[in-house]
Amino acid sequence: MTPTGILAGTPYLRVEALAKRFPGDAHELAAVSGISFSVPRGKLFTLLGPSGCGKSTTLRCIAGLEKPEGGFVGVNGRTYVDCAANIFVPPDKRGIGMVFQSYAIWPHMTVYQNVAYALEVKKTPHSEIRPRVMEALELVGLAAFANRSAPKLSGGQQQRVALARAIVGRPSLLLFDEPLSNLDAKLRERMRIEIRELQQRLEITTVYVTHDQAEALAISDAIAVMEGGKILAVGTPREIYGAPGSRFVADFIGMTNIVRGNAVAGAGSDGSGRVEVPFGTVHCRFEGGIRPGDPVDVLIRPENMVVSRARPDSRQNVWQAAVEGVTFLGEYQDATVRVSEQSLRIRVHPGLELEKGEQVYLELSAGRCSAIRGEQAQN
Ligand SMILES: Nc1ncnc2c1ncn2[C@@H]1O[C@H](COP(=O)(O)OP(=O)(O)OP(=O)(O)O)[C@@H](O)[C@H]1O
Ligand SMILES: [Mg+2]
Repeated sequence: MTPTGILAGTPYLRVEALAKRFPGDAHELAAVSGISFSVPRGKLFTLLGPSGCGKSTTLRCIAGLEKPEGGFVGVNGRTYVDCAANIFVPPDKRGIGMVFQSYAIWPHMTVYQNVAYALEVKKTPHSEIRPRVMEALELVGLAAFANRSAPKLSGGQQQRVALARAIVGRPSLLLFDEPLSNLDAKLRERMRIEIRELQQRLEITTVYVTHDQAEALAISDAIAVMEGGKILAVGTPREIYGAPGSRFVADFIGMTNIVRGNAVAGAGSDGSGRVEVPFGTVHCRFEGGIRPGDPVDVLIRPENMVVSRARPDSRQNVWQAAVEGVTFLGEYQDATVRVSEQSLRIRVHPGLELEKGEQVYLELSAGRCSAIRGEQAQN
């Protein structure tokens, strides 16, 4: 995938060819296998991927909590790691704020003391401490709780203390490692909005780690999808979702129908082409050098299928289908439909009361589905 507009411009954080292998690790694969990305000033960049793919290790290398054996890390023109030149700046000299999943707040201290501690260890002049702590507590909405003992806070409030502590030192960079995993679903949604608003208000460059795709889509300026210590795709949430570029990314980010077929026409000047699939012909966008005759995978998001009972006017990308199963989920319905021998998942408005066994028409805009090189061709 090509670098996107949002990541163009002068890099503020630069990570190049970062590599980390743990000693004694029985795995053949390195935890982080030569990854590169850059983040412009003030943007929020998310590392998204399944457990064990190397997200935390990447973050810890940026923070200085792990020593990589290869690569470069620089922030705002300062070099923190340059393995070739044997440069490794210790974590306390990097001025980076970090928020972890475990809030790591001190149980024997008040909210105020927890946040002040971050400044005291940095030998901040005494007169500056109070106003800065109160400012940080104000920013996270905890000023009224300054004297409360830290363990007597809810999970969300404790996470806000951790956030205040991370920003009170006015860090050059903010790092989050799964900060919301310990919160319940409702609170998680609220906190991610709060984090995003604060990050944008302070214009603080941020790297955010999560394995939750919805969180990544909601919070990020750009997302890097990782697997096995590598970055597979980088883009804005819309780009990653709309043009995932590989089966793994498509599957990891939301639900996708993957239909095998063969390209019968190459991409035209508008990037679209035709694919022969078991249930007919699909007109769709072509991603990445597909030629006629190539095996391809067509990726179709369930919500992009338009369902109707009357035959649509369009001549292309219209198919008749039988409804096999319907699940009512309040704000939408999920259904499985069969087109010839192919089963497809679709998602429709609950107002269209689909019934099992009925015949419907499916219509798909060619711009809303894509073909990527088939697995046989990728290997
Ligand atoms: N201290 C360590 N010693 C040995 N192996 C490690 C160490 N830390 C991480 N690893 C290994 O490195 C790989 C990447 O781990 P990492 O913690 O970066 O994954 P992650 O993407 O953050 O996963 P999760 O979503 O579960 O937190 C894993 O195979 C892990 O077992
Ligand atoms: Mg992790």
